[in-house]
Amino acid sequence: MKRLLVDLDERSYPIIVGQGVLQQLPTELMDRGITPKQKVLIVTDDHVAELYLRKVQGLLEQSGYVCSAHIAPSGEKAKALSHLEEIVTSALAAGLDRNSVILALGGGVIGDLAGFAASTYMRGISFVQLPTTLLAHDSSVGGKVAVNHPMGKNLIGAFHQPSLVLYDTSTLASLPQREVSAGFAEVIKHAILTSPTFFSWLNEHAEALMELKSPYIDEAIYQGCQIKSQIVAADEQEHGLRAVLNLGHTFGHAIEALSQYGSFNHGEAVSIGLVAAVLLAKQLGLATEPDNSLASIVSILKRFKLPVRLPGSFDPEEMVETMKHDKKGKLVFVLPKTIGQVEIVKDVNEAIVVQVLEKLKEVE
Ligand SMILES: NC(=O)c1ccc[n+]([C@@H]2O[C@H](COP(=O)([O-])OP(=O)(O)OC[C@H]3O[C@@H](n4cnc5c(N)ncnc54)[C@H](O)[C@@H]3O)[C@@H](O)[C@H]2O)c1
Ligand SMILES: [Zn+2]
Repeated sequence: MKRLLVDLDERSYPIIVGQGVLQQLPTELMDRGITPKQKVLIVTDDHVAELYLRKVQGLLEQSGYVCSAHIAPSGEKAKALSHLEEIVTSALAAGLDRNSVILALGGGVIGDLAGFAASTYMRGISFVQLPTTLLAHDSSVGGKVAVNHPMGKNLIGAFHQPSLVLYDTSTLASLPQREVSAGFAEVIKHAILTSPTFFSWLNEHAEALMELKSPYIDEAIYQGCQIKSQIVAADEQEHGLRAVLNLGHTFGHAIEALSQYGSFNHGEAVSIGLVAAVLLAKQLGLATEPDNSLASIVSILKRFKLPVRLPGSFDPEEMVETMKHDKKGKLVFVLPKTIGQVEIVKDVNEAIVVQVLEKLKEVE
């Protein structure tokens, strides 16, 4: 079991990572001042409910907590205002008050949705993240919570830090292989942002990691959470540095939006977006010499069974329009100069981005 602290003054909270740590849920809640006097609402989705809801509910009830559950449908479609309203209805029906707590049991969708519900219910109540996907090592840390609007992703949201992140890595065993790969896209992103050492380590242990072998998987999650939490601690509300976490995402969000959140999941879209970011860095002459970042990034993504090429059916000009919309009119990119170092570049010439997207269709 590993523990780290997200250092945000009075909003600081621990992240606990390890096989079986869910057993410690009641004790960890009590350590955070959340006692059986406070009502608990577990928010989860229909896949995760079948697998882990009874267990979590049982653990809480054994320790005297009064808890109820709200089950949302699984998938990105749950990140909508209508589902937020349904959670509020469940919370009211269960008698949650300003001292009550929401537990988000699931992946990034549930974390974002339940966290946003907690940020607005009776002007804000506490919440706890119980991540069950690999991708959620990213989404459960940092306090960005949101739902989508038909015109774009995460357009209705807040900053609301959890009180605790309890990450039981044994829950990952039931995750479909495709979701495991998707999670690694964000782990690899964290390595590209800050750490050539972590990048090489991921490359070296790719096979064991894809098989979720312990202690490798726990270490990868711990390192990923640590990188994310250090960036968040330095710039909680994204006035500057935190924007680097969008590496691969300007392209990735456009890919997700144009595929109607269908053919590519978030991690897969980010994977192609990471390759796009390296290509753009090269095109703009930002990459440091000697540079093998393109080859190494493409190769590591493939080892984790992630897509690296933009399908021919995507129209680069339409993608640029979507990206401008996502970034409120301006094309802002986070670009890797080398593994471990990135630069934020604003107002990139659109014609260059179109050229890069054409090249992205040729990546092997
Ligand atoms: N807030 C942030 O900082 C942040 C960061 C990154 C991503 N996100 C958001 O996270 C979301 C993606 O998260 P995700 O990839 O975890 O998606 P997800 O929550 O939809 O989970 C993926 C699928 O796996 C299923 N699942 C979850 N846990 C399982 C388990 N243990 N066993 C079997 N099946 C399981 C879910 O039901 C779902 O079908 C996106 O909406 C993205 O915008 C947010
Ligand atoms: Zn992401």
